[in-house]
Amino acid sequence: MENLYERLVRPLLFSLEPEAAHHFTIASLRAASCFDPALRALKQFAPPSKPKTLFGLNFPNPIGLAAGLDKNGVALPAWAALGFGFIEIGTVTAMAQPGNPKPRIFRLPAQQAVINRLGFNNEGADAIAKRLGGLRATGRWPIVPVGVNIGKSRTTPLERAADDYLYSFRLLRDFADYITLNVSSPNTPGLRELQEPAALSRLLHAIGSESGAIAKPVVVKISPDLTSVELEAVLAACEENGVAGIIATNTTLDHSSIPPELDEEGGLSGAPLLEKSTALVRGIAANAKIPVIASGGICDAKSARDKFDAGAQLVQLYTGFVYRGPQLLREIVEAM
Ligand SMILES: Cc1cc2nc3c(=O)[nH]c(=O)nc-3n(C[C@H](O)[C@H](O)[C@H](O)COP(=O)(O)O)c2cc1C
Repeated sequence: MENLYERLVRPLLFSLEPEAAHHFTIASLRAASCFDPALRALKQFAPPSKPKTLFGLNFPNPIGLAAGLDKNGVALPAWAALGFGFIEIGTVTAMAQPGNPKPRIFRLPAQQAVINRLGFNNEGADAIAKRLGGLRATGRWPIVPVGVNIGKSRTTPLERAADDYLYSFRLLRDFADYITLNVSSPNTPGLRELQEPAALSRLLHAIGSESGAIAKPVVVKISPDLTSVELEAVLAACEENGVAGIIATNTTLDHSSIPPELDEEGGLSGAPLLEKSTALVRGIAANAKIPVIASGGICDAKSARDKFDAGAQLVQLYTGFVYRGPQLLREIVEAM
């Protein structure tokens, strides 16, 4: 049976062009974040608590918001009120950038999928650090862990990638409970090359040498399109450099499950990504000690259970949340 969001809110949102619906949602949650009665209303959706500790952090439940929904970190109190056990903002780049030309988000409702080629549109590390500082000062900072996902600015050449990540890292680490290094978005040319062992080790070494007064857990977000040999090399580099966790996975460039007339250039997310992404979670859990945060195709309690059964410690939602709404959180937690 359809839930309240699916019956009432989704038809309204889906009557809008996808990016307009996204902006409307974010603007509404941003407004709610400043208004206690609205936050109390959102809390009606929150799932029961199911505490979990990882990286020395306490999570009220293991279901997080995946990167990309709140790229600029404008609605942290609202995400926490909806019941997310942790929130990952970003991807943030050193420089503000507009992203790719529109249209750049495409819904595929029959497939419960989305294709996007946004290209890291975001306000840049300086503006976002300022916003997070402001939120801290107001006392509205959420009680759930907050991750900040950082990536490379489009105009920075790949050889200077580490400097670009470092710039954002220095500005944002004090606001983050963990930092995600995104080396796997398919929409920034060359970014995925940072998963190659030498480049990844260079980046991890640069970030590791900067850890600051309080070392923050650093996690690496990987692509579902890695071969098993490539995955093995990524894991070795992560383990050698003290990486705290892996987010598996980002969106895929494998569109073989999509009818050609619906296909678009970009990263595919949602149900068609589930199995491929879960296979990587299983592969990591079987071959490495490093904890895994699973992201990719979770759209019901069963797909979330698949991730935990495969060895994930935590999970993150994006596309499933777009299709199923906040009640998806409760559905997953109640089935755990
Ligand atoms: C519209 C859109 C934008 C995204 N932007 C980002 C991003 O900025 N950084 C990132 O690491 N992942 C980004 N992602 C990937 C998601 O965080 C997630 O890893 C991926 O979509 C797989 O999960 P899902 O199937 O639940 O959506 C984006 C996904 C979508 C659909």
